[in-house]
Amino acid sequence: MSNAKDTALLEQSLLALGDAYDGIAAELFQNFIVAHPQYTKAFANPEAAQERMTRETLEAMLGYASGEWWVASTVTNFVDLHRDYDRFKPDDYRDWFTLVIETMAIRAGDAWPADANLAWQRQADGLMQMVTAELS
Ligand code: HEM
Repeated sequence: MSNAKDTALLEQSLLALGDAYDGIAAELFQNFIVAHPQYTKAFANPEAAQERMTRETLEAMLGYASGEWWVASTVTNFVDLHRDYDRFKPDDYRDWFTLVIETMAIRAGDAWPADANLAWQRQADGLMQMVTAELS
C-alpha cells in the first residue's frame, strides 16, 4: 500500500538534508558500532559496507512508503545476507533505523520538516514487521 503524503514528506526531508548527507554513513557506522560493541568483529570491512548499508536502508524506507513491489524481497535478502555476519536480533535493526532517522534530523537541523521524523518512523515500523517475521 502506498502513502503519497509520507512519500512527499520523505522526499522533502531528503532535499532539506542536502549536502549534509555527505559523511553520514561513516558517522552512522561509528555510532552504531560504539552502541553495539559486541558486533565489532562482524564489521570486518566497514568502509566498504557503510555507504551501501546506509543507502539501501533509505531506499527500502522510500520504497515501503511508495508501495514498491520489490520491498518484500529486499527485506528477505538483507536479513538473509546479515545471517552471514552474526545473529542479529530485531532490536538491532530497530536501533539502526532509529539512529538513521535521528542522525538525518540532527544533520538537517532547522531545515528538517516538522513531521519528517514520524513519517520516517512509520516506514521503519512497517519494515520492522517484515524483519521480525523473517527472523522468527
Ligand atoms: C535496513 C537495515 C539494513 C540494511 C538495508 C543493510 C544493508 C547492508 C548492506 C547492503 C551491506 C553491504 C553488503 C556487502 O557489501 O556485501 C551490509 C553490511 C553489513 N551490515 Fe547491514 N543492513 C541493515 C541493517 C544492519 C544491522 C541492524 C546490522 C547490525 C546489527 C547490520 C550489520 C551489517 C554488517 C556486520 C555488515 C558487514 C560489514 C562489513 O563487511 O564490514 N546491518 N548491510
